[in-house]
Amino acid sequence: MLILGIESSCDETAAALVDGTGIVRSSTIASQIDLHAEYGGVVPEIASREHVARILPVVRSALADADARLTDIDAIAVSHRPGLVGSLLVGVAAAKALAWSLGVPLYAVDHVHAHLHAAFLRDADAGSHASTRATDAIERACPALGLVVSGGHSTIYHIKSGLELERLGATIDDAIGEAFDKAASILGLAYPGGPEIDRLASLPNADDRLIDLPVSRLAKDSLDFSFSGLKTALLYQVNGVPKPRNRSGHPGDRAHEPVPEMTPERTRDLAACFQRAAIRAIELKLDRAAAHLDAHGVPIRALVAGGGVVANSRLRAALQTFAAGRDIALHIPSLSYCMDNAAMIAGLGVARHAAGTPDTLAVTPVPTTAC
Ligand code: KG4
Ligand code: ZN
Repeated sequence: MLILGIESSCDETAAALVDGTGIVRSSTIASQIDLHAEYGGVVPEIASREHVARILPVVRSALADADARLTDIDAIAVSHRPGLVGSLLVGVAAAKALAWSLGVPLYAVDHVHAHLHAAFLRDADAGSHASTRATDAIERACPALGLVVSGGHSTIYHIKSGLELERLGATIDDAIGEAFDKAASILGLAYPGGPEIDRLASLPNADDRLIDLPVSRLAKDSLDFSFSGLKTALLYQVNGVPKPRNRSGHPGDRAHEPVPEMTPERTRDLAACFQRAAIRAIELKLDRAAAHLDAHGVPIRALVAGGGVVANSRLRAALQTFAAGRDIALHIPSLSYCMDNAAMIAGLGVARHAAGTPDTLAVTPVPTTAC
């Protein structure tokens, strides 16, 4: 069985072929990072135009890499939510046209939920568990705690089964990846900044205790995240705290309190302090979510995490500690399937195909996540 996955929700045009055991036969990603870098973020109109130009070459390349033909495809999965509507539209239109012309079922899937399925993908050379069906591996992990941390989302789930999720909490402002990218921009680092902050924070002399940046807790039992305060606190470390205006309404002779000069060492240390606080916030909410499920009599068997920020070295270590401390399994994607890709879309497609609940050609793009 071969599922074609198509992904175009943001600035990556991607196609992949995944078989019924979750083995990735090919995964092609055409990144637009260079086109958007000069704007410091994704420009929706540029993104959708590029998807139009790249979608069919990307599908062809995924087929060629898997040594497969269009007629070998048993079903098509496409991300139809959430994302930039103009971008989603391109992938959805391509998927519908292919599904109709090949006469195969179409599965419209939620991109954020697909990030969780990335943890169960394996490369063709992975060997040992090659006969395990991907859907069996997911069901064995349930009930599980789910975490998606990406450029657009920071969400905690109760994963009841491969296709049944309950959202326990989400960010009330910035997503963590967005906060990483904005923090990097405040520190004058290249876009996208998450990997750059990770690199600086991993340097041998990085001092993540230089200052304590705020870790948001929100209400006592809240499972939601907030990263805007952390971002502002970092901004004040770089630019100084804005001075209160004097009685006439004008700032004094200096608009900001003085701050130390931004040397490469201070940039490195502030990156490390930011990363420590951001990851601490995730640990804290995972602890609360595990306690919440425990209090509701849900015996979690695993932690399943996905999304671009799961590529972060400190977060990967923190997730390992979390799972080991509770004696539960940890399922995280290999680095190649953390960031946006189409293999994870096909992975969720495998589970949908096994359940046998295809969508009709009436599906449309939706900007928001399903839950
Ligand atoms: O999952 P993804 O490709 O896109 C969304 O669905 O949003 O995630 C992209 C995000 C970016 O914000 C990027 O800075 C972040 O993942 N990211 C990282 C690292 N690698 C990628 N953040 C922190 N540390 C990393 N090593
Ligand atoms: Zn994503």
